[in-house]
Amino acid sequence: MDFSIKNVQPGRSKTDCVIVGVFEGRKLSAAAAQLDTQGQLSKLLRRGDMEGKSGTTLLLHNVPEGGSERVLLVGLGREADFGVKQYREAVATAMRAVNATGAKAAELHLATVDVDGRDIGWRAQQAVTLAQESVYRFELMKSRKDAAKPGLKELVLAVSDRADVKPAEAGLNRGRALAEGMALTKDLGNLPPNVCTPSYLADQARELGKRYRMKVQVFDRTDMEKMGMGALLAVARGSHEPPKFIVVEHRGARKEAKPVVLVGKGVTFDTGGISIKPAAEMDEMKFDMSGAGSVLGTLKAVGEMKLPLNVVGLIPTTENMPGGQATKPGDIVKSMSGQTVEILNTDAEGRLILCDALSYAERYEPSAVIDIATLTGACVIALGHVASGLFANDDALAQELLTAADAAHDRAWRMPLWDDYQDQLKSNFADFANIGGRPAGSVTAACFLARFARKFKWAHLDIAGTAWRGGKEKGATARPVPMLTAFLVRRAEG
Ligand code: BES
Ligand code: MN
Ligand code: ZN
Repeated sequence: MDFSIKNVQPGRSKTDCVIVGVFEGRKLSAAAAQLDTQGQLSKLLRRGDMEGKSGTTLLLHNVPEGGSERVLLVGLGREADFGVKQYREAVATAMRAVNATGAKAAELHLATVDVDGRDIGWRAQQAVTLAQESVYRFELMKSRKDAAKPGLKELVLAVSDRADVKPAEAGLNRGRALAEGMALTKDLGNLPPNVCTPSYLADQARELGKRYRMKVQVFDRTDMEKMGMGALLAVARGSHEPPKFIVVEHRGARKEAKPVVLVGKGVTFDTGGISIKPAAEMDEMKFDMSGAGSVLGTLKAVGEMKLPLNVVGLIPTTENMPGGQATKPGDIVKSMSGQTVEILNTDAEGRLILCDALSYAERYEPSAVIDIATLTGACVIALGHVASGLFANDDALAQELLTAADAAHDRAWRMPLWDDYQDQLKSNFADFANIGGRPAGSVTAACFLARFARKFKWAHLDIAGTAWRGGKEKGATARPVPMLTAFLVRRAEG
């Protein structure tokens, strides 16, 4: 979709569809009022065709003002309640409605509304990303493409002040870059596990490297053996599909500047291994590479924005399969750090592949390391599908991420990482075990990782509840790419 910013009043230029908001109680937004020169809209509202409730729309044809083909009224809900969530819903609702019409071009007058004091750059960025998300379809695997494909090709974001044009344009560019990254993350998540294998992720990383001039290295099983990545290799043992360890380096700042390292869990299918999972909904374990997908998506956004920051992506990737060679409950392996791990449950594999990647990260002397993983079902129980679980060994880093999460409206909630929980990982036979029992499952998983993150500031995002939607609308969400991108943008602006 093509986007542009225009300082224009509704009705002043011709377009296929003018979109304006109406608050609950039939109160016209400022833009809607400007379109209502002849009282036509007010009359319609008084007739009772629209209340202005959030989630509702009213499509009008042949409105005399301005001569555009259509006017789309979007319900904004109660003016007193209007905030970030309501703004995002209004834009998404508007996009859904306009995509259902034949309009190829539209002019959106929603970014002119005040949203909890968020600046015009933010409003523009959010609108662009949401508009782009509204036309996202995953049809790579369908033999017939959907005939009812959304038709919107061009969106003008209207601003009401000349001084808003520049900051809105900056927001537009960030929003477009973010949306591109998110689309990649969604595609990778949605692809079936027979296509999106570790080798496929490696190819995607190489492509990213070529397009944005990032350095890419892909290590195979033998390389991992040489590096002593015994924990990662233990997970890969049951699989015929070769595991990979992928390194992507974006050099946006001077060479000496310490990088942010992003580590993404790349289990392209998690059967549980010998501790095998039940059959119901096991297909969803194709999304177990969402952490890896979010690292690649974030790097794509970073590349699009040419962020003046050094960012490294590390992706340990493998399948987790049962088999004659597979790791057994009770096996003890030596991680790259030298610490030994008793693998009591082969389904707690994410932490095993991440721990060796964390050890690898040490060589960068990073300013911060953030790992992203669909790590525990327990996190879904704790936080549902709204917030990602955030764990950190550094308060300032945690706060920085929470601020970014808030700015992006890609929520996270901080969870404890107290040593008190470490006792649950005690092993009679090795340095520690890979599971800590049912209580506080997402915390003990994070505690396991913390043992490999002693040398740097580190945060862990458990995205098991946020990376995809189940049920009828099943699909990848691209979370937490918005949060990570916001975090990096803020760091780059420093
Ligand atoms: N990939 C799963 C976590 C998961 C489960 C994500 C459900 C999304 C939905 C992870 O590898 C796993 O299997 N974790 C186990 C850990 C347990 C064995 C300690 C879990 O959460 O049950
Ligand atoms: Mn598992
Ligand atoms: Zn897993």
